[in-house]
Amino acid sequence: ATIDIDFTKTKKISNKLIGVFFEDINYAADGGLYAELLKNRDFEYTDKDHVGWNASTGWKSDQPIVISTEKPLSKNNQHYAIINKSSLINSGWDNIISSKGNDFDFSMFARCIDGRKNQLIISLVDSLGNSIAEGKIKIEGNEWIKYNLNLKLDTKKHQEYLNKLHDLALIITGKNQGQIAVDMISLFPHQTFKGHGMRIDLAQTIANLKPKFVRFPGGCMLHGDGIDNIYNWKETIGPLQDRKPERNIWNYHQSRGLGYYEYFQFCEDIGAEPLPVMAAGVPCQNSSANTKGIGGQQCGIPMDKMPEYIQDVLDMIEWANGDPATSKWAKMRQEAGHPSPFNLKMIGIGNEDLISTVFEERYLMICKAVKAKYPNIEVVGTVGPFHNPSSDYVEGWKFANQNKKYIDAVDEHYYESTGWFLHNTDYYDSYDKNAPKVYLGEYASHTRTMESALAEAIYLCNVERNADVVEMTSYAPLLCNDKHKNWNPDLIYFDETNIVTTPSYETQALFSNFSGDKYISSKINIEEKYAYRVASSVVRDETKGKTYLKLVNALPTKVCLKVNGMNLSSNTKYVMFGGSPESKTTERISNDTNNTSSALVIGNNIIQLPAYSVVGIEL
Ligand code: AHR
Repeated sequence: ATIDIDFTKTKKISNKLIGVFFEDINYAADGGLYAELLKNRDFEYTDKDHVGWNASTGWKSDQPIVISTEKPLSKNNQHYAIINKSSLINSGWDNIISSKGNDFDFSMFARCIDGRKNQLIISLVDSLGNSIAEGKIKIEGNEWIKYNLNLKLDTKKHQEYLNKLHDLALIITGKNQGQIAVDMISLFPHQTFKGHGMRIDLAQTIANLKPKFVRFPGGCMLHGDGIDNIYNWKETIGPLQDRKPERNIWNYHQSRGLGYYEYFQFCEDIGAEPLPVMAAGVPCQNSSANTKGIGGQQCGIPMDKMPEYIQDVLDMIEWANGDPATSKWAKMRQEAGHPSPFNLKMIGIGNEDLISTVFEERYLMICKAVKAKYPNIEVVGTVGPFHNPSSDYVEGWKFANQNKKYIDAVDEHYYESTGWFLHNTDYYDSYDKNAPKVYLGEYASHTRTMESALAEAIYLCNVERNADVVEMTSYAPLLCNDKHKNWNPDLIYFDETNIVTTPSYETQALFSNFSGDKYISSKINIEEKYAYRVASSVVRDETKGKTYLKLVNALPTKVCLKVNGMNLSSNTKYVMFGGSPESKTTERISNDTNNTSSALVIGNNIIQLPAYSVVGIEL
């Protein structure tokens, strides 16, 4: 077989093709990226979050737990617990894990209900009952005060904590005559990603993908399953105790500790552009929770409330980009610790909504208002529910095309079989280059195996060929806490201690690290029956002055490609991964960019691709 590379045939392509889709699904936020170690720190869990949950879920005690709402910490945080001679115990999401060499930051709000001075003992206790970190807090006065305590593991006395991880529980013990109200009880590892409250290992795994953008906070999570459940960004900023917790459409609780500020900060910390997506004035499929599903009674934000909702959208842009000297929203950003603008360039409106009149009216009102006030902000709309054979986004595209003055790009979603991805590599070939751009915002093939990674890599080679039409892509979903799964497959699985990346993660990493802004024509010539299982893409990054060749071989045999159109150097740098199709992990054949080993034989201008492999070569 041969590959013809033609450097005279080039075109400009998007330089932000690979991003990530962060949805608070599978405990991706609380119990995931957000490093808070305690479950239900605010005592705000309810039966609406999850059947059977209540304000004391996640907490244990040697006596019945007393919950009160009198004189609460905040109007958005009504419930708190009362301790006197009792204790309160929290074992975290699944377990609190001792961390080698790291200590913990404890904080809580408390007040003495009867005005007496009181004391609480805060300890981290292992499964044998040994207290391995301890501190005391004196509580004074009848007003809510925040108390902080650094808890350092006593590794002198308990040397086993130096080299082995242990399960811990936090215990707050009171031995008081008086009653103490406690709320917002929080435990963080002392070290978090760039000091901004995210779990280091997970944040780094996402950062390693070098995503060009991060879409957040969903998915269906953002438009909710009723008007009352639409994600309201204003409820997620400011002091933690004043944020409004909310039910998560995926059947759990949002503490909102990971709110808009933290999302934007995380984007900045990993060098990705923020892509906040806001509801188009309608909940999921235009239905409320009790009229669920297509065909149910359609609902949207009442028209007389739409100006207020649109103002919320505009305020968000002001909050992200405005000048604190003139904008009250930007001042809030400054007060939270970020005086300089976040430099927001794009906003998503809508998420795979049913294309109905209720939707269209509201969607257009929002898009028009954003463009009128912020003509330079890119508006990313939607073309409807996720792709299936009976829905090809016809109505959504028609509407976007009619209104392309206000809609710069649209979000397409599809979850398909590996076969679908292998046989639809021409999907974007016929797309109109003058229509709004495509954001392939959610896609994945059905398995979490190497077979999927190969199919997605072949598909991405062809998306890159059409990256003058497709501006952005993001595999979905990104994160899954293995003990709290709502959706499968996902890109990264984790629990309290481990992170397992999937073969599809390697595909994303490779396409992100070997991306460019100029497409260079390449064509593989191979027997027709094999052609759909072998693919190539050549791009150049003009800023870095580097050219990359990506090759995918999804055949069970090696493929030798004679390269026409350029001379390969003998010390070509490359990365390669592969593995048997059913494998859930990748065999990293090479991750050394200076690798010149024989895994990928390059000689006489011939590249030998192993069976089932994906390769990125720096030319
Ligand atoms: O990615 C999981 C879900 O799939 C998203 O929430 C939704 O947008 C889609 O249906």
